[in-house]
Amino acid sequence: MVTRDQGRLLQIGPTDNTSDQRTPRQRLRLIPEAARASFVPYAPARAMIRPNEADMTRIAPNRPRAQGQPIEVSGTLRSETGRPVAGALLEVWSANSFGRYTHSEDGSGLQLDPNFLGLGRIITDEAGRYAFWTISPGAYLARPDIGRWRPKHIHISVTGGSSRLITQMYFPREENNASDPMAILMGDAFVRNVGQEYDTPDRDVDQGYRFDIVVGGRNATFFE
Ligand SMILES: [Fe+2]
Repeated sequence: MVTRDQGRLLQIGPTDNTSDQRTPRQRLRLIPEAARASFVPYAPARAMIRPNEADMTRIAPNRPRAQGQPIEVSGTLRSETGRPVAGALLEVWSANSFGRYTHSEDGSGLQLDPNFLGLGRIITDEAGRYAFWTISPGAYLARPDIGRWRPKHIHISVTGGSSRLITQMYFPREENNASDPMAILMGDAFVRNVGQEYDTPDRDVDQGYRFDIVVGGRNATFFE
């Protein structure tokens, strides 16, 4: 069976019988360490990240800023024992000030902002620290059928080694926090997923939010 999906031909279905062709017929042999080191990708995203990806408030340096309130989010990534995790990849995405994602599957019809980058990437430094700038996201009506709003939030993916965890940072005192399904799941631990405000008089943003991320253990950040 051949199906068409967005212009691509997908040859899947009952006639697909290639799994056996990909199964080794002889014992696997370990490639020597010296040979492996030459082609195993170590954090390939690191080399591809451009410095401006930490500033989602504009699409490129010296371009106009997106609408809304520019904010900084910063914190430290730690393991369950409290050890800083250096060299981890953070991928960040959030809605613009109108509550619209820069994504083809956002069918809300809300206003796009051509100056909003919408997604960014950061590598934690040697002390596990990270920081990025974005626009304070708009809340959005996630379930029009039942009138459920999602409070404003920022999605953050953390990749280290071969593990990837995805969490969301919430904002203090938002009226829809209490009724958010994920917040309800977190219970008392919800407070750990709320960014803590700090002033940013020396930086070109209106407000800072500290969001420390812990990957595992009793004080773990809530991951989806
Ligand atoms: Fe979202």
